[in-house]
Order: sequence, then C-alpha cells, then structure tokens
Amino acid sequence: MAPTEPADLDAADLHPALGDPALTSMNFLNEVSERYPTAVSLAAGRPYEEFLDVAAVHRHLDTFHRHLVDELGHSAEQARRLLLQYGRTKGIVHHLVARNLALDEGITVDPEAVVVTVGCQEAMFLVLRALRAGPTDVLLAVAPTYVGLTGAARLVDLPVWPVAGGPSGVDLADLRAQARRARDAGLRPRACYVMPDFANPSGVSIDVADRQRLLTLAAEEDLLLLEDNPYGLFAVADGPRPPTLKALDTDRRVVYLGSFAKTVLPGARVGYVVADQRVAGPDGRLGPFADQLAMIKSMVTVNTSPLAQAVIGGRLLEHGCSLVPANTRERAAYARNLRHLVAGLARRFADRPEVRWTVPAGGFFVVVTVPFTVDDALLDTSARNYGVLWTPMAHFYDDTAPVRALRLSVSAVTPEQIDVGLDRLAALITDELLGGRS
Ligand SMILES: Cc1ncc(COP(=O)(O)O)c(C=O)c1O
Repeated sequence: MAPTEPADLDAADLHPALGDPALTSMNFLNEVSERYPTAVSLAAGRPYEEFLDVAAVHRHLDTFHRHLVDELGHSAEQARRLLLQYGRTKGIVHHLVARNLALDEGITVDPEAVVVTVGCQEAMFLVLRALRAGPTDVLLAVAPTYVGLTGAARLVDLPVWPVAGGPSGVDLADLRAQARRARDAGLRPRACYVMPDFANPSGVSIDVADRQRLLTLAAEEDLLLLEDNPYGLFAVADGPRPPTLKALDTDRRVVYLGSFAKTVLPGARVGYVVADQRVAGPDGRLGPFADQLAMIKSMVTVNTSPLAQAVIGGRLLEHGCSLVPANTRERAAYARNLRHLVAGLARRFADRPEVRWTVPAGGFFVVVTVPFTVDDALLDTSARNYGVLWTPMAHFYDDTAPVRALRLSVSAVTPEQIDVGLDRLAALITDELLGGRS
C-alpha cells in the first residue's frame, strides 16, 4: 500500500529483500504458533526447555571469571573489563572454541581464525557479506536450504543457486553441473553451502566417502564450502561420528559455521565461524579470512556480548571443553524422541503407502511426504482445526513450485506430545486424502 503521510516510507524504496518470502518465513511461522498457543508444536526446532537452567548460567559465568583470573592470569580489573566492557571483535572465548573443536570434531584450528558471533546466523551473514563482491557472484546451496541462509544471502544481494540434495545429502554430479552452468552464464559461484550432519530441514547426512568426494570436487571446481553444523552432536546411535568436512579439509577449502544454540543455550545467542583461508589485509600482510569477517562484524554488532560468551565459555570449561558428555541427557532425549516419532509415523501410516517419511540417523527433523500440496494455508487449517503445528517444506525451497512435504521437529516436545501431535496430524492427512480442506 502506498504511504499516506509525508514521512511514511514506500516499501518499494526499501531493500528489495524486505517482503521476500525468505525474510518473512520465520516471522510467519512464529505468528502461527502465537495465534494457536494450545496447538502441539512439531514445528519448532528449539532445544527442549526443561533443560534450560537459570542457576547454571550464574555458575558458568563464575567459572569463566575464575578461568580469566586463575588460568589466564588476568588481574581482577582486567577480568572485569573483559567481561563488562566493549571487547575484542573476534571474541573472548575463541581459545575455548578451538579446544572444543579439537576435542569433539578433530578440527585443528588457530584460535585467531575463529570469530565468535551473535549466533551462527551472524556468522553466515558475515561470510556471505564478505564473499559477495559484485553483481555476478552467486552462492550455490544444497536444497532444501535452511531459510536463515537464504534470507542472509538476500540481504547482501547474493542470489542462491540451488543444488540437488537428494538421498545422499548432496548430488555431486548436480553440484558440478550447477557450478559450470553458473560459470557458463557469466556468473561466479563463490561457495557452496552444505550441512553434512542431520541437515535442517532434510535430516539427511552425507557419508564419509561423499564428504571426501565433495572436497575433491570443490578443489576441482575451485569452490569454497560453507559447512554448517548445529546438529552434528545429536546422533541417535552411540559411537564414533563421521568427520566433519573441516576435519578432512587439508587445503583450507572449508569455512566452518558453528552454533552453541542447540548444545549449550539458545538464549546466549553465541555461535562462531572458523575462517582460516589466508587473505591479504589492508596493510598487505597475509592473515586469516577471520580478520576480514571481523572488520564486517565491527560494523554490524561490534562484538558478541562478553557476558553471553562467558556463559558459553564457563559451560565449556566445566566439561573440559567437550560438549559430547555435556549433552548426554540432551542426546538421549532427542534420540528417544526421534525414534518415538518415526515409530509413531509407522504405526499411523502403515497402510498408506502414499505417505512417506525419512528416518534420520540423528538431529531434530523428519520430513513427511504426502500426495497433496502442503502450503501455509494448510498449516493454518492444521493449527486451527486440528491443533498441530509443523513446517511446510516449501519454506526451504527458493521458488514458488508446490511442495508436497512437511517438516516435523522432535526437539521441543515430550513423547506424549509427539503422540498427540501425530494423532492430530494423522487426522489432518486422512481428511486431506479423503478430499480436501475444511
Ligand atoms: C542449519 C542452521 N544453521 C544456523 C542456525 C542458526 O543458529 P543460531 O541460533 O546459532 O543463530 C540454525 C538454527 O536453527 C540452523 O538450523
């Protein structure tokens, strides 16, 4: 609608990303859940709230404060300044992040190559902002794609060029074909965004052989890989986890994006990026790409709240910097829920071969495929008439083609809520199969 008062703004004069489905997606989904507060939510990919503990936050803060004084030798005054003043742009828990990555992921990284960010979301934004140098730049991204990545790309005017994900997590032939197609069209693919472990939203993981092939292909096609890994810790089975791309990366081809939202505390809003690619700085000296990202960060969020970093740092220190034992309870609960959800789908849809679902080896998400279009209107019907929320998979595709799938999340619910949610979802799906919406 056009503005009516002289000081009003015309949306057409604002950044074109505003109003784009990628930017409105998260708000839309939040609004639906606010409008139907009694609906069971199999939509939210949030950590289970009973695990969040205010008292622990105080303890973590104290632990990190003691670390500054007792282990790093800071005076009381220096420690106070580090915690309460403006601070280092690249962060104050970078050494602990590096230790955590060495222990949990076998990633050896210079702490100077780490930028601690306001969630992984900021890390994605900084990297995309830095990579987008001109109008011919594009980002390849495995589809379906996390909508936060697509939205961040929109904000920096970087078109997202989809690459088929498929059952193996990334279709390597399609990745090569898309990189070449983009180049043939005069474009410059700057990187490929990929989530090798329990991807959001597909739940699919890439096996080790394909991780190796992906790295080889990236080298052959001269592509950076942006590896996003918020869910890697949450495997259903115990035992060794596959190496991350970054752990296998011998020539600094991988920019690694990390989040503490699922493994420590979402409200702290702390994530990070490992960017060890060498770049000449303004003085001509080679330094890590992290330094360039920090320049952008200094103009976006200045630095990540040191108090929030201290909470994360304290939790890391209390567990010897490994988040695997620190998440024993969480891993068990999410694995139990995932099994419960998959078994519940099998029970309810055993005699309906037209309804299919994925069986992920970990993470938070299961994708259900149905023989009808799943859109926002159906979600509204589901919330209003059936009392269950889920996420239309259409939100994770960067086009308007109809999508016949929905994402279920197991992270924020109990097994009992899963049962109720699935009963309601089964009623919705049965009614849709019988002939349409109410
Ligand atoms: C794949 C993926 N990347 C990044 C994020 C954002 O993480 P953060 O909360 O640390 O900003 C999420 C959050 O759900 C996610 O699913």
